[in-house]
Amino acid sequence: MNTRNKDIPCLITIFGATGDLSHRKLFPSLFHLYQQENLNEHIAIIGIGRRDLTNDDFRNQVKSSIQEHVKDTKHLDKFITHIFYHKLDVTNKANYESLLEVSERLDQQFQLQGNRLFYLAMAPKFFGVISDCLKSAELTNTKGFKRLVIEKPFGSDLESAKVLNDQLRKSFSEEEIYRIDHYLGKDMVQNIEVLRFANAMFEPLWNNKYISNIQVTSSEKLGVEERGGYYDSNGALKDMVQNHMLQMVALLAMEPPISLNSEDIRAEKVKALKSLRMFENDKVRHNFVRGQYDASEIEGQPVQGYRDEDRVDNQSNTPTFVAGKLTIDNFRWAGVPFYIRTGKRMTSKTIQVVVEFKEVPMNLYYETDKKLDSNLLVINIQPNEGVSLHLNAKRNIQGIDTEPVQLSYAMSAQDKMNTVDAYENLLFDCLNGDATNFTHWEELKSTWKFVDAIQEEWDQHEPEFPNYKAGTNGPLESDLLLSKDGYHWWDGIN
Ligand code: BG6
Repeated sequence: MNTRNKDIPCLITIFGATGDLSHRKLFPSLFHLYQQENLNEHIAIIGIGRRDLTNDDFRNQVKSSIQEHVKDTKHLDKFITHIFYHKLDVTNKANYESLLEVSERLDQQFQLQGNRLFYLAMAPKFFGVISDCLKSAELTNTKGFKRLVIEKPFGSDLESAKVLNDQLRKSFSEEEIYRIDHYLGKDMVQNIEVLRFANAMFEPLWNNKYISNIQVTSSEKLGVEERGGYYDSNGALKDMVQNHMLQMVALLAMEPPISLNSEDIRAEKVKALKSLRMFENDKVRHNFVRGQYDASEIEGQPVQGYRDEDRVDNQSNTPTFVAGKLTIDNFRWAGVPFYIRTGKRMTSKTIQVVVEFKEVPMNLYYETDKKLDSNLLVINIQPNEGVSLHLNAKRNIQGIDTEPVQLSYAMSAQDKMNTVDAYENLLFDCLNGDATNFTHWEELKSTWKFVDAIQEEWDQHEPEFPNYKAGTNGPLESDLLLSKDGYHWWDGIN
């Protein structure tokens, strides 16, 4: 992690500036950075869209999105004067000349020192062509820094990811490409490293001698909403496991880095990902469970099944749920299962890590014949950000009964006020040239390889979908995955 600089002049060009991501996340985050003085006056933002809009039309739209998403709008009018609209058909090379002109003009006007950040908040099919056009129109030929920020999905398998990567690399070096995984911008995901490496009490226990299993869950109550078209050709494995879930596993499993430099952290993450055991053939069936939700009720309201969702094939075999048992083949983790689970239309919106410790070598408190509860370290990533440690303590004065007790730390509202969203952290990192919380190509290679092997096996066998009711925690096989090892999902724990 580099030193943070709040005074970085930059021209930020957002492709897809009239889209949902820009309005819900990017503009509110940029505004909040500005309001908190993490951006200064040497900043200009060009919003690119296809529609005919004037600067004023666009500024008004941005203003209302910010008002909707940020409570305190002090300095909003001043911030808005840094925003400009530019109409462009992103596939038409000739159009980029006018973008170059505007960019150069704004560079002079705001004294941006030639620093350029291009944010592609668009469908992946445009990533390659935009990056080619930026180069051919010489927008990448600048005296300051140039950086490309791209959203996921980065390819749909290793092969397509390679093709895309090769195309981007014609215009940007690996160091200039910032691949967003918004989970890496979440405060509590960033806290995994801090908890592990800034506390003397965890790292000595962080291995197969003391930990019995680790569970990583990201469950959602929502269905696919209006994203049926995208989702149906991806599914939970590609949408969540290939990126967010495996990134969290890498942070939990990696060795301590020699420094907080992004290269050092990344080297350890890549090593951890490379140690993931690859599953093939029937090993996939034994270690992975896929599911798809059926119609049911959530909180008394009827919800439709996945196959009836808008823009979803009514015979679709796309999984909306995945659970898996991951094995990390290295000295630290041999024998410790990492269970992962993610799905839509589950009981709650929860992102959580549960580290379950092994039993004490001998239970002295056997009087009631009751097994001692496992010690747990629970990292709550969302919604109630915080950490808790579950211990056993004495229940009453006379007896020797034990009861589980909990030491908890909850991130205060005050802490949370400092950022509006993970995107704010990531944009600030990117302006600072800090790639720690972005996905490197080496990480992508490992995660796609792992996911491709599972997908290949799944493609051979038709699943019996739908197989879980909306509003439940997935198919029964997900529970069996753990119970056959003598464990269970720690649902509802905080
Ligand atoms: C996105 C996925 O990357 O993450 C979505 O494409 C998913 O399908 C979302 O809903 C979940 O993000 P969060 O931050 O709400 O857990």
